[in-house]
Amino acid sequence: MSRLVVVSNRVGPLRGATKAGGLAVALADALRTRRGLWFGWSGEVRDGPQGHEVQAQSLGGVTRAVIDLTSTEHDDYYNGFANRCLWPLFHFRLDLATFDRRYYEGYQRANQRFAQALTPLLRDDDLIWVHDYHLLPFGETLRDMGARQRLGFFLHIPWPVREILTALPHHEHLVRALFSYDLVGFQTEADLLRFQDYVLREAGGSQRGNRLYAYGRSVIAQAYPIGIDTDQFATLAASDEAGHEAAKLKAAIFDRTQIVGVDRLDYTKGLPERFQAYEKLLELYPEAHGQVSFLQIAPTSRGEVQEYIDIRHQLDALAGHINGRFAQLDWTPLRYINRAITRRQLAGIYRASRIGLVTPLRDGMNLVAKEYVAAQDPDNPGVLVLSRFAGSAKQMAAALIVNPYDPVGVAEAIETARHMPLAQRRDRHRALMHELRRSDVASWSQNFLTALDHAVAAVPPGV
Ligand code: UDP
Ligand code: G6P
Repeated sequence: MSRLVVVSNRVGPLRGATKAGGLAVALADALRTRRGLWFGWSGEVRDGPQGHEVQAQSLGGVTRAVIDLTSTEHDDYYNGFANRCLWPLFHFRLDLATFDRRYYEGYQRANQRFAQALTPLLRDDDLIWVHDYHLLPFGETLRDMGARQRLGFFLHIPWPVREILTALPHHEHLVRALFSYDLVGFQTEADLLRFQDYVLREAGGSQRGNRLYAYGRSVIAQAYPIGIDTDQFATLAASDEAGHEAAKLKAAIFDRTQIVGVDRLDYTKGLPERFQAYEKLLELYPEAHGQVSFLQIAPTSRGEVQEYIDIRHQLDALAGHINGRFAQLDWTPLRYINRAITRRQLAGIYRASRIGLVTPLRDGMNLVAKEYVAAQDPDNPGVLVLSRFAGSAKQMAAALIVNPYDPVGVAEAIETARHMPLAQRRDRHRALMHELRRSDVASWSQNFLTALDHAVAAVPPGV
């Protein structure tokens, strides 16, 4: 079996994946099963010659090799092009996207430096799997440096509609670069369709089965919805440690119905809209006062980026407003935490919560929705309220599916969840678990890697 080389901007720890971020969590699982090399950014910013050295470390057959970013790279590539341009644009937020040539050039340069640093570590028969929007041109850059290995790419975030993507001055370069990979994976069929639409209509390409032809090249494009390690997470949630966390939470809220939200503090997660829906619930159902408790865990993320600073201020104000308006001497309606919580603690918190509120305005997949379900006690499970705009919604039709832009609709769904009879909760939970077991993270990586193993370069039609 070929060695697996994973390339991603954020490289998770080899042990104890406690850091927030779905990508890190998912890949740690994938690499453990196929002994490999994980290459990317160290998470450190350092100017000067040391930062250019690759720092490698191995554990249990997996090697972690990382480089630091210079402060200019961090500003232009990570904060700039990746997080002020591609992230909002790919989440349909053209209004929040900043187009700056300096950012784009920094992005290209960082991709080149990553490729230069990785090249000496590669073996001829490696299988190389590149991840996410930070590294769209990475494959092309690596090919330009002579790489002939199988190259796959997986996009963890949505693929945008053509009309939005074409607002990006460099859209053609980026899409063309994806044609240097042998296989490109998306989270959902809807993302795949939007990618195909761009290739066929904007690039004048053609399609045969799942192979797309454009720019004199071809690539296989498929949807591979990412999953979680369902059984492992369920076991974690039933462990003594998680139980301890659940008991702590229950003691803090007495017998109230616990509603939980867990998200990086990101404007795509629909947090202000969620807070407003909760306010609507308290407005429309006064009998819920003192009976519910909403816990929102939202670790700060990308805190140097202005749009993230803005959303944080907005949420601080909203949380204060809701508590100021509804709190009683012995009841705090909303608890809002800006700290990251470990997975183990999260598992217990999910399990102790009768309602999981996952209402992004747009999300590639959303692993929290899956984790919430996996963590439930099958005999007395909670109810997931899920945005139709999360990639996971298609696989999770047995959740209460809502439109996050409709605060009354979300409030009504919370109320439905609050009163849902046990039999119905069990039925929905069983259906959701069935799907989560069927498409877990192991089958996700296996399916992708098997397809990559078999992907062979094809000659464009008519050439
Ligand atoms: N997470 C965590 N601690 C936190 C908040 C989140 O470990 O305090 C984890 C969470 O369990 C999930 C991941 O971060 O595995 C978030 O992934 P998701 O796909 O929901 O969203 P993303 O952050 O990738 O946009
Ligand atoms: C999302 C992205 C990942 C990213 C993670 C955390 O899951 O798809 O690529 O690693 O958010 O964001 P950060 O900017 O901290 O890496």
